[in-house]
Amino acid sequence: MKKILVLPGDGIGPEIVAEAVKVLERLQADGLDVELEHGLVGGSAYDAKGHPLPEETLVQARAADAILLGAVGGPQYETLERPLRPEQGLLGLRSELELFSNLRPAILYPQLAEASTLKPEVVSGLDIMIVRELTGGIYFGKPRGVRTLDNGEQEGFNTLVYRESEIERIGRSAFEIAQKRGRRLCSVDKANVLEVTELWRQVMLRIAKEYADVELTHMYVDNAAMQLVRAPKQFDVVVTSNMFGDILSDAAAMLTGSIGMLPSASLDADGKGMYEPIHGSAPDIAGQGVANPLATILSVAMMLRYSFGQSEPADRIESAVGRVLDQGLRTPDIAAEGQATVGTVQMGDAVVAALA
Ligand code: IPM
Ligand code: MG
Repeated sequence: MKKILVLPGDGIGPEIVAEAVKVLERLQADGLDVELEHGLVGGSAYDAKGHPLPEETLVQARAADAILLGAVGGPQYETLERPLRPEQGLLGLRSELELFSNLRPAILYPQLAEASTLKPEVVSGLDIMIVRELTGGIYFGKPRGVRTLDNGEQEGFNTLVYRESEIERIGRSAFEIAQKRGRRLCSVDKANVLEVTELWRQVMLRIAKEYADVELTHMYVDNAAMQLVRAPKQFDVVVTSNMFGDILSDAAAMLTGSIGMLPSASLDADGKGMYEPIHGSAPDIAGQGVANPLATILSVAMMLRYSFGQSEPADRIESAVGRVLDQGLRTPDIAAEGQATVGTVQMGDAVVAALA
């Protein structure tokens, strides 16, 4: 029996997670051996417990085999001091559980080709996997802060730091994923300017010898940003540092025209993972019942595949999503102009029905 911790979070989080839970419950009824437990994270945890990552949530998270997270954050929390902001709930889970390998696929569903702002021929058939380092780099590097200089001026500072072992483990993670896909890996760095990413490049080159079946290339991050919007299909797997990956994965997601469709996985060394949609808490549409639950539902498929080694039910979920798109069901974010739309619950129900 696998334990799943469900953390709905803030904004549209509870609405979209409820639909993903329906999908899990349907699979449970068909024999999937999982047990669900709910917990608090982000702004809703702050409201209830005074902290975005309460101790009891951390205890639940450590005991779980996988975590399904909705989204965190909202405008009402932006004035809180930094350690109490919802985002710290997410960053805390990543770092406490050592979820260092963040997989962010960008797949263009053929049914949604018109949703991209890029020309159809540039994006049709797009299937990229961005592997983002998630527990190191400038997000966590010390020293960090804002200090006052002798002349009274303030100075802000953060530290971009990577140890060889950190680079090596994310590199291995990416090479292994490339082996299961198109066997091409592009490592993105800024080795022409930053020493730390020069080391990154050296480590990638060193471990590449152990993965002779994968073709390794290197690209500077500015060029990678340009190539992603110019000719994205040149990429198979991209591996990069925490902050570059944050930026490039948003760009890659937008190539598909529908950030509401994209799941993600954050894995530790043993394959335990946290699964969440790539999009955020969308406070502007929270509570309206119009958010797209498909990215969260597809996150469940990733969970089954990557943490539980169950590709059959994962395929079932992904086919069901394909089927509802074929049926023409669209939440507002993926609807073409003038096309009729459905709400969050209708979309979730349609996926459950299509699982049959
Ligand atoms: C993401 C988000 C987070 C990040 C925020 C919410 C802290 O942008 O998951 O990409 O910067 O990692
Ligand atoms: Mg981001």
